Amino acid sequence: MSLIETPTDVRKFQMYIGGKWVDSTSGKTFPSENPATGKIWAEISEANAADVDQAVRAARAAFESGPWSDMTGSQRRDLLLRFAQRIAEEGPELGRIEATENGKLLREMVGQYKLIPEYYRFFAGLADKIQGETIPMEKPQFFGYTIREPLGVIGLIVPWNSPLLLVSFVAAPALAAGNTLVIKPAEQTPVSALRYAELATEVGFPPGVINVVPGYGEIAGAALASHPDVNKLFFTGSTETGKLIAAAAAKNVVPLGLELGGKSPQIVFEDADLQSVTFGLLAGIFAAAGQTCIAGSRLFVHRRVRQELVERIVGRAKTIKMGDPFQEDTELGPLAFREAMEKTEYFVEKGIEEGATMVLGGRRPENKECAGGYYFLPTIFTDVRNDMTIAREEIFGPILSVLDFEEEEEVIRLANDTRYGLAAGIWTRDIMRAHRVARRLKAGTVWINEYRQLSPAMPFGGYKLSGYGRECGSQAIHEMTQLKSVWVELQGKSRDPFRLA
Ligand code: NAI
Ligand code: MG
Repeated sequence: MSLIETPTDVRKFQMYIGGKWVDSTSGKTFPSENPATGKIWAEISEANAADVDQAVRAARAAFESGPWSDMTGSQRRDLLLRFAQRIAEEGPELGRIEATENGKLLREMVGQYKLIPEYYRFFAGLADKIQGETIPMEKPQFFGYTIREPLGVIGLIVPWNSPLLLVSFVAAPALAAGNTLVIKPAEQTPVSALRYAELATEVGFPPGVINVVPGYGEIAGAALASHPDVNKLFFTGSTETGKLIAAAAAKNVVPLGLELGGKSPQIVFEDADLQSVTFGLLAGIFAAAGQTCIAGSRLFVHRRVRQELVERIVGRAKTIKMGDPFQEDTELGPLAFREAMEKTEYFVEKGIEEGATMVLGGRRPENKECAGGYYFLPTIFTDVRNDMTIAREEIFGPILSVLDFEEEEEVIRLANDTRYGLAAGIWTRDIMRAHRVARRLKAGTVWINEYRQLSPAMPFGGYKLSGYGRECGSQAIHEMTQLKSVWVELQGKSRDPFRLA
């Protein structure tokens, strides 16, 4: 069954295993809802543990034997470059699928497809440069060297907010290094990964190199996380689920990379360019309705510029145009599903209850364009203290908490006073202060006078409860390979082991 043309209203998709479209063994399907309308637009085969096992077997077979296992780095390079090109060509369609499933702006999802092919190009350039070292040996009769080998089958569990971008963070280096993949997309956004796997086959990836098992976290996700024949797992999503996956993987001694939540601070000093700050803050918290791991959800602003900055962000946030994510001029779409909206409402209540001042939003919009969808107004709280729930928990909705400070030391302490450590923003014209503060923040990424930038060349990952391991950057190849140490005896003098030399 092709996933492109289905004559019915509700489109149907199967799983993608071993280079083929297949039904789930149970015959079950699950729905994918369009959060802008609340309507079901697709039905997808639902993978269970048996299906996941089949996918892991297909990935194992492709890894151990057949054309993929014999390919050289330069052949993988060429495949990845073709894949990048196909993904770029299909970007508008893939972006449309993703916006339909997660409710993010079509403009943003299609925009991500300008970036996604770059991940494959970047790692294509490394695929033929994966090398070990020669080791200077203590004893002259030995020659020692290392080889970097692929790990094998890599399991990938991703969330719904940026489905294929987050797949690509892991898949591009994993494929460059010669691994095979089993991808469990989020239940809200299963379809783009399916189409992606089909594109991989089209450009020449052998069957079984990329497999996709759509389904629920507790079933398909849990089966992948506890599968003994997976060599490494990568998970992006909530800290709670990350802990479950880490525990399951530990039982099989499967290593993993975890990219989890955040409660990232944006620190604005009194000398900052408030126009740039306003743009950076709005992008950091209201883009994607706050549903990004790097959301800059805690604003620390110097008391001297606090009032002016709050006026500027409230002024612009008030005029944000909400509505249909497919309209070119829409600036804010809905949340991705009902529970996300309810959770945002819960945090608004908490903010009020604990004494913060709500200066904007705090409820669902009433305009017609937003009826039926899971929309929530951009919301800003001032007078927030760092111990309030809205300053501590990852909200994943459009809520900005504003806190203030006087001294550099004080703001460093406050910014670091969080369980998370994914990202941070620093806004100042003082170059010494910028670097001084960047050094002291406990966060995997620090942006100075900018926010929400990503690049395949830049390592990405968290401190503390935001996870471990780094995706992207050239060192990602190390996360996708294991070292073999080889000893060679050069003098042909074997010794009797029971006699001292
Ligand atoms: P989640 O972390 O539960 O789901 C992410 C992925 O994990 C999905 O593919 C899901 O099917 C899978 N999963 C869920 N339970 C699993 C299990 N027991 N075993 C294996 N896989 C499992 O996140 P969810 O439920 O979509 O969102 C809940 C909250 O998590 C959000 O409101 C947000 O606060 C946070 N979140 C953070 C993300 C980030 O990038 N930091 C991304 C998505 C969610
Ligand atoms: Mg969940």
